[in-house]
Amino acid sequence: MFRARTWLSRSFTTLSTNPLRVCIVGSGPAGFYTAEKTLKAHQGAQVDIIDRLPTPFGLVRSGVAPDHPETKIVINQFSRVAQHERCSFFGNVTLGSSVSLSELRELYHVVVLAYGAESDRTLSIPGENLDGIHSAREFVWWYNGHPDGRNLNPDLKSTDTAVILGQGNVALDVGRILLRPTDELATTDIASHALTALQESAIRKVYLVGRRGPVQAACTAKELREILGIKNLHVHIREYDLVKSPADEAEMKNNRIRRRVYELLSKAAASASSQPRPGQCELHFVFYRKPDSFLESHERNGHVSGVHFEKTVLKGGGPGKQIAVGNGEYEDLECGIVLKSVGYKSLPINGLPFDHHKGVVPNVRGRVLSDTSGDPSLIENGLYVCGWLKRGPTGIIATNLYCAEETVASISEDLEQGVLASSSKLQKPGREGLLQLLDDRNVKPVTFDSWEKIDSEEKRLGTLRDKPREKFATWEDLLKVAME
Ligand SMILES: Cc1cc2nc3c(=O)[nH]c(=O)nc-3n(C[C@H](O)[C@H](O)[C@H](O)COP(=O)(O)OP(=O)(O)OC[C@H]3O[C@@H](n4cnc5c(N)ncnc54)[C@H](O)[C@@H]3O)c2cc1C
Ligand SMILES: NC(=O)c1ccc[n+]([C@@H]2O[C@H](COP(=O)([O-])OP(=O)(O)OC[C@H]3O[C@@H](n4cnc5c(N)ncnc54)[C@H](OP(=O)(O)O)[C@@H]3O)[C@@H](O)[C@H]2O)c1
Repeated sequence: MFRARTWLSRSFTTLSTNPLRVCIVGSGPAGFYTAEKTLKAHQGAQVDIIDRLPTPFGLVRSGVAPDHPETKIVINQFSRVAQHERCSFFGNVTLGSSVSLSELRELYHVVVLAYGAESDRTLSIPGENLDGIHSAREFVWWYNGHPDGRNLNPDLKSTDTAVILGQGNVALDVGRILLRPTDELATTDIASHALTALQESAIRKVYLVGRRGPVQAACTAKELREILGIKNLHVHIREYDLVKSPADEAEMKNNRIRRRVYELLSKAAASASSQPRPGQCELHFVFYRKPDSFLESHERNGHVSGVHFEKTVLKGGGPGKQIAVGNGEYEDLECGIVLKSVGYKSLPINGLPFDHHKGVVPNVRGRVLSDTSGDPSLIENGLYVCGWLKRGPTGIIATNLYCAEETVASISEDLEQGVLASSSKLQKPGREGLLQLLDDRNVKPVTFDSWEKIDSEEKRLGTLRDKPREKFATWEDLLKVAME
């Protein structure tokens, strides 16, 4: 071990001789935690983070709900990483179009892919393409001012009823944003176009529909408590949906979160009045229903008017593994808008091994494998993965810290054991090479200093409206401020 470390320090010593050149793709939590751990573990390393957006921080900026400002404090820690003397951020640089994977691997000793999950699981049922059906990801991007969500314009005026499919924390975020009094949202960093649309919204009833039961609802207790606590809200849960099977009891016994969620739902069901009071908004938790098809409106051609559900029962598996099986009985739920919150999905990139079934890059402890066979000897030299792209689209911000630790440990082991030896002895162009290539292609990267211009302008505009920031929500505005 000692000898390996000596070799390491000889190979990658100071910036002026042969620094370890690392490129991280994606500036979300996985990207920033990887950068932080790499800078700490490798004193000679030069780390570049690229992101397709002009803004850093991934889902911390464009996923975390606007009414959860405390969750976004981690941005301060990530900013310190970006400002580290051996770290650089280059926004507006897209892997796959600005630069290819093979080019990045030529330029850097180590490439870590942390570009998240920017697509959606689909239900693959009839009617899924009707107007008025959106993925939660698109809706979240829209209210969080992601420039690719700016034109969604969900119609919240023509209906009083929204159906949300799925009962995870994203579904709860979306439900809460639809139901929360807008004066409470007005002082958050919600995008102004979304705030205006929510102020004008006619949505009064939100159905959160799960294919399994209350014991299996994928949300966590804090988030559930928050939506149940919305002011002037009538919560409806059918008593008979709360009946537990022995398998449910076993599941709850082994899982404190499942127990807390069930208790909160039971308490809400017991304390709710039978009818909403005049002026109250309604939140309905519906269990044991799986979407079978979407219904088309007779009045508005091509627009959704409801969801056709099949009732389910839980079967098989041990605790935690019960699956929903249709029982052949059906029920329709009328609505004018549907938000599918059944999970995100990562996208493949040209030249990158990809497990299309799981929607992840095949890997062993963050080392990318050449195919999905799981054969650990088929390692792609110098190529690593972290975050949602590595594990799939689950886990909170902190989960990515442990994920990054594992990936960086694999990089360190590979350096120590000489797996990266041949390439590491080579001088690699790294940052200078990347910037030259981008310049040749007329791609204008947004540096961290330029992001800080966006940041301070957003904050300045925010103070005028009593908000923490007023987000620029178009590519044009973001790039204009960054390049000024
Ligand atoms: C709606 C929502 C709300 C959430 N709220 C919370 C919360 O309150 N608390 C909590 O702890 N966790 C929350 N999470 C979970 C948390 O956000 C994730 O665990 C975390 O962001 C995943 O990190 P990541 O770096 O893998 O992906 P991301 O955060 O998605 O980062 C990926 C980055 O890659 C960039 N990128 C994508 N494609 C390319 C490309 N081709 N080239 C270059 N860059 C690219 C993206 O622009 C993005 O910046 C939430 C998740 C969602 C979806
Ligand atoms: N405040 C926070 O901390 C916060 C906020 C938002 C997100 N997050 C985290 O981000 C991650 C992603 O959240 P998420 O809500 O997108 O995912 P999730 O927790 O995996 O929930 C997905 C939901 O979709 C349902 N579903 C999946 N496929 C379905 C299908 N074919 N038909 C019907 N329903 C289907 C699931 O039901 P089944 O259980 O039956 O599969 C589940 O209810 C989670 O780890 C979450 O905790 C955290």
